Amino acid sequence: MSHIRGRFQKDAAEAVVRYTSSLPFDHRMYRQDVRGSIAHANMLAKQGILSTSDAKILIDGLKAVESEIDNNQFDFKIELEDIHMAIESRLREIAGTVAGKLHTARSRNDQVALDTRMFTRDAIREVQTAIRTLQKALISQASKHSAVLLPGYTHMQPAQPVLLAHHLLAYFEMLQRDFDRFNDAYKRSDVMPLGSGALAGAAYKLDRDYVAHELGFSAVTQNSLDAVSDRDFVIEYMSCASLCMMHLSRLAEELVLWSSAEFAFVEMDDSYATPSSIMPQKKNPDVAELGRGKTGRIYGHLLGLLTTMKGLPLSYNRDMQEDKEALFDAHDTICASLSIFAGMIETITFKPQNMERSLGQGYILATDVADYLVKNGLPFREAHAITGQLVNHAISKGKTLETLTLADYREFSQLFTEDIHAISALRSATSKNIIGGTAPSQVAQQLERARKIVGN
Ligand code: ARG
Repeated sequence: MSHIRGRFQKDAAEAVVRYTSSLPFDHRMYRQDVRGSIAHANMLAKQGILSTSDAKILIDGLKAVESEIDNNQFDFKIELEDIHMAIESRLREIAGTVAGKLHTARSRNDQVALDTRMFTRDAIREVQTAIRTLQKALISQASKHSAVLLPGYTHMQPAQPVLLAHHLLAYFEMLQRDFDRFNDAYKRSDVMPLGSGALAGAAYKLDRDYVAHELGFSAVTQNSLDAVSDRDFVIEYMSCASLCMMHLSRLAEELVLWSSAEFAFVEMDDSYATPSSIMPQKKNPDVAELGRGKTGRIYGHLLGLLTTMKGLPLSYNRDMQEDKEALFDAHDTICASLSIFAGMIETITFKPQNMERSLGQGYILATDVADYLVKNGLPFREAHAITGQLVNHAISKGKTLETLTLADYREFSQLFTEDIHAISALRSATSKNIIGGTAPSQVAQQLERARKIVGN
């Protein structure tokens, strides 16, 4: 019988043990648990609640348990319910009855809150590193293709020429906001809950600031009921992860489209594509598709935990144990996706010739023709109408805006002169010489800024 079942006459039913145990997944927080317990033991000794020699026995024992787990020598017994009990129980075997003093002035409720906060802090830093890796891959491809133009799209219709580097840096910007959002979420995870006890606080003179300092926390929680029962920091992590996956998913979608025969703007490296088991000609962008698909998982975890939490009265409720698998899976999914996307971007081949070919289709310079008329004195709306008619005319004659003759142009407006033929994709892009615009000089500055941000 487990040592905390004092008032019980029977063990839990086996199915109940399996249903309620979090050990099969929360063992992942063992390092956080040991670190938190060591800080707690040190603090108890400092406050004279525990003798220094007892504290030393506990700390040595905790380190021994940690190294057993590190070395796969730890026997996880599911009936011990969770990682906190599993570690304490092994500590008792190693250190003897003094192990029973470790839990003085502590509850698993503030303990699990502590471990989860520490895990979330580490997770945030890990995702941020992965975000940086993908940002660097985007920067490197943007640098290599600083002169390549392609059609920019709105409504998936060719709209105006843009630089490929500009397009890639758009994803850099999204990821930068994700990075910043994670920084912000970090602040809310970075608050130390130990000392909240089961719910009401601890009946001992603890030094909470000391524990916070030992564990690198910036602050201590200010309401014990809230501290043991709040998981909004996990939800915030998932919300940041969801936004980041949404961005990855958009990138994925673009790469799927671009690797189609119809676009052929990119070719995936063999190491980042998969064959079809039936159609030998195929090279499928499965990696991008899976990244897009896994977005659903992370949104699911976000919605799942929001739903788990929504009806919970104060304070701790066991429902909250559901946070961990969701957090761990969201974390594994986003880290794997970010790092695999970095590899995919690094190794992808862009096809500038095909991009250029597409620039010749779709009347992509129509806005430049309208701008030409505006610069020659016509109100924009009129210029827009005239250019629309010109495009119609060109379509009916099977011509492009570049191949229409000056006479064709002048049929629609006398403002056109020979220099209308100077319109080109490059000129069009170069004319967007404004902060945030696609002019090569602007994009070069953005690239420089991006490099500085990632420290390259
Ligand atoms: N396994 C629990 C969890 O993950 C730890 C806290 C349990 N507390 C309790 N009173 N049963 O939330």
